[in-house]
Amino acid sequence: MKFGKRTEFRQTSWDEPEIFDLNETGVQRVGFLTVEDNEVLEREASLMQILGDKYRPPDELGLPQNSEVEVVRHFTRLSQEAYGVDEGPVPLGSCTMKYNPRIAWRVITRSGLAGVHPSSIELGVEQGLLSMLYELQEWFKSITGMDECSLQPPAGASGELAGILMIKEYHKDRGEEREYILVPDSAHGTNPASAAMGRFKVVRIPTGPDGTVDIGSLKAVLDESVAGMMMTNPNTLGLFEHKVLEITKLVHDAGGLLYYDGANLNGILGLARPGDMGFDIVHLNIHKTFSAPHGSGGPGAGVVCAKGELSRYLPGYIVEESRGEFILTRRDRSVGDMQSFYANFPQMVYAYTFILSYGKQGIADVGLNSILATNYFIKKIKGLKGVSIPFSPETPRFHEVVISLKGLVSETGVSAEDVAKYLLDKGVHAPTVYFPLIVEEALMIEFTETETLENVKYYAESLREAIEKAYENPEELKQSPRNTSVTRLDYVRANHPSTLTPSRKYEIMRERRRSSDAA
Ligand SMILES: Cc1ncc(COP(=O)(O)O)c(C=O)c1O
Repeated sequence: MKFGKRTEFRQTSWDEPEIFDLNETGVQRVGFLTVEDNEVLEREASLMQILGDKYRPPDELGLPQNSEVEVVRHFTRLSQEAYGVDEGPVPLGSCTMKYNPRIAWRVITRSGLAGVHPSSIELGVEQGLLSMLYELQEWFKSITGMDECSLQPPAGASGELAGILMIKEYHKDRGEEREYILVPDSAHGTNPASAAMGRFKVVRIPTGPDGTVDIGSLKAVLDESVAGMMMTNPNTLGLFEHKVLEITKLVHDAGGLLYYDGANLNGILGLARPGDMGFDIVHLNIHKTFSAPHGSGGPGAGVVCAKGELSRYLPGYIVEESRGEFILTRRDRSVGDMQSFYANFPQMVYAYTFILSYGKQGIADVGLNSILATNYFIKKIKGLKGVSIPFSPETPRFHEVVISLKGLVSETGVSAEDVAKYLLDKGVHAPTVYFPLIVEEALMIEFTETETLENVKYYAESLREAIEKAYENPEELKQSPRNTSVTRLDYVRANHPSTLTPSRKYEIMRERRRSSDAA
């Protein structure tokens, strides 16, 4: 184990109670009130004087009563039981888990941006902030090759839904009832889901033997009933769709529109633009490509951009400059709001700082360095027994590579999941497993430009060790991980609605139901 110069990885394990059960006395022992806290308390007291007892909130709100030190220690212990990108690589393919630069966090916290209320932007009060958002829109336009952008959607999937609704409105305004959206079978699950949410029927386009869209199958389904096609390029196999110009022309000739899923933009950032490939609408995952932190549900940001007349359908607000002032405007045929307020603002500060600190050349290096990391890794694992690279194995990959352990499982009984679990014991995060669905026993690996080549090498060596162990002692892999705070989970219990606990409220409801059933 290289990181931190330890010889073996051991994750901390605490028997940590819920925050509600931390302090049994229910009394806060140590408190450090800030100036702001004191102000709030004073205001509350004067407000209560005016309102009187009738409106006094109940004393018992059921909130945990913990002092600052307890809360800090509680969350520090929990963080020690988890693994994150600040510890080592998280090469989750398709998720683009890159390092989140501290400079952006410093800008957000030190400049008071963290406390900005969304409505102050919505009202157009904050000219400085609006000018930053305007500049971001301009940068995203030039990065994607589109004419206008809305920063509003709160996730990639939300950007997709916005794009799908835009496609729907566009055809409706032309008096056309088109019912199908085409989606390659290598696509991320959100693509068909977004199309279905927009009340389109989804047609799967198979991948050809070279790992890219099969043109013959595409031609066979293209007619005036097709509203559009969703694609990502490089695709989820990490391969560049080299027939993209032919594909976009074919769909346009049939009267359809082209949607670009920008979750895989990292591999071409600064090198190629979806707008130049013929796409009409694009979403960007700010929490992937533009370094905003993500994982465990966000918050994210799924900026959506469009070309020409399609800009009329963009969601939310667009910042415009008018006589030296920045104003918020809405497009006349907008599909509406994808969330309340303007955008997930801190995500925008991340993107702004990321672009500004890298500069134009640095942005181009993002694409190049992520390609370098992927192909360095491929070189390091080449020839591993039981491991194959499906679809054009000799073609260089872009942001990610998908390998198949089909050979390994048939020769040793050790699955992709077992190997992923073994990697956890090496002090690294597992890759994405069993995706895309067109690859059996898939491991999907994406390092991004922020991973060091030493770590990429360490990852390849760890994978090699796992594969060698699988042939020598398959049981060891089946018993992994051993050194993590939580070992193998019971997947049924971890996912079943009767045992999965999404929130404390849910657990209380479940307890009540149990006791009323018992009574
Ligand atoms: C290729 C691709 N498209 C779309 C999405 C959806 O993005 P989000 O998770 O922000 O909704 C993802 C997320 O992993 C993705 O990898």
